[in-house]
Amino acid sequence: HLTHHRDQFDVKTEQNPLRTQTLSTRKDFYERDFPLYRQPVEVGSFSLDAQRRFFNDRRQMRYYVEPDKNPNFDLKDGYRDRYIKRDENVKEKLDHILRWILANKGTLKSKETTDSSRSLDFDFVTWRGHLTKLLTTPYETREGWLLAATKFNGTIYISEVETEAARIERENRPERNKEMMYWGYKFEQYTCADTVDSLPDPSGVVNTNEAFCTVVQTRLADHKLLFSGEVDCRVKDPSTPPPACYVELKTSPEICTPKQRSNFHRFKLLKWWAQSFLPGVPRIVAGFKDHDGVVVSTETFLVSKVSQLIKNEFNCWKPTVCMNFCCDFLSFVKRTIAENDHSLVYLFSWEPYRDVTYSLHRDSQYSFLPRWFIEGMSG
Ligand code: A3P
Ligand code: MG
Ligand code: MG
Repeated sequence: HLTHHRDQFDVKTEQNPLRTQTLSTRKDFYERDFPLYRQPVEVGSFSLDAQRRFFNDRRQMRYYVEPDKNPNFDLKDGYRDRYIKRDENVKEKLDHILRWILANKGTLKSKETTDSSRSLDFDFVTWRGHLTKLLTTPYETREGWLLAATKFNGTIYISEVETEAARIERENRPERNKEMMYWGYKFEQYTCADTVDSLPDPSGVVNTNEAFCTVVQTRLADHKLLFSGEVDCRVKDPSTPPPACYVELKTSPEICTPKQRSNFHRFKLLKWWAQSFLPGVPRIVAGFKDHDGVVVSTETFLVSKVSQLIKNEFNCWKPTVCMNFCCDFLSFVKRTIAENDHSLVYLFSWEPYRDVTYSLHRDSQYSFLPRWFIEGMSG
């Protein structure tokens, strides 16, 4: 045991951090001071309608309506006859964000480059969901990931590629799981209204093509970030500006035992915290459901209080580990990608209990920046 431990240690100290081809995901490597994470600022938003069409506006924004003290929301209702599911075979990659960037490039912060053309003043452009996966990586034991990265005009774009394992799981999803995926959206329908002065309409159709997305700008240590994430709803009070007005809705199994509470803190709250902390969404409304898919209680969690809530759990996750790993991964990507070449993709790959590795792909299936974006940004 001791020898094994020393070997690992020796390997790590021998590595020159600027030359390594891999990145460790061990938790203890990332237990240091919390890195600088600038308050995220919303720089824009966009909507995807019932047909998944892009609009550079807030038409899909919904308003949170506080549920009853003793709710009785049947999440199974409408699964058979009032459900339109987004086609998961369509890989949208970064396309909606790129459309948003093109539509707003005139007002987006940009910097002069040597050839007098202008480029985006961001180091990274990606989806919030991809960053969430990075934040939770040191604690993930089940699902690996593939992230494609490409540098164009000095900005690195990061887009997820579905792993073989994820595709197989998706194509063989048991019927029960398919139904349970609907439940989360159904909860949104019970708690969201389409306008400030209307009420939720649970008799309507649940269409998962529809989305409202915020686009935020922030900085993690020396990484300037632009990312977008789907937002469930906002509070009605018009004096609360975004992203502080946003509310993340979640469902989770009812908590009946100390063991269940502990698991909720250790696993669920990690994912919930990571997802909402990144864009600066301050509150999460949880609907607790029974075995039969009926929400019987709700509870609001303040994202800023989550770390206190989990402090009593033994061997629990730490926000600083999440943020430091994400920061170091972005540094790793920056020093790995030398060339400014949109046809060259660096595919970063990770499996649980392994280091992050990468491979290079030129003009391959992995290239993801569309011609319309390259041309639109150059013109
Ligand atoms: P819940 O997770 O609240 O049950 P989000 O919470 O991110 O807004 O996602 C809305 C819903 O989409 C989820 O609700 C869940 O039903 C479904 N969903 C999202 N990601 C999923 C995943 N990886 N696997 C299964 N369902 C998912
Ligand atoms: Mg959502
Ligand atoms: Mg949600």
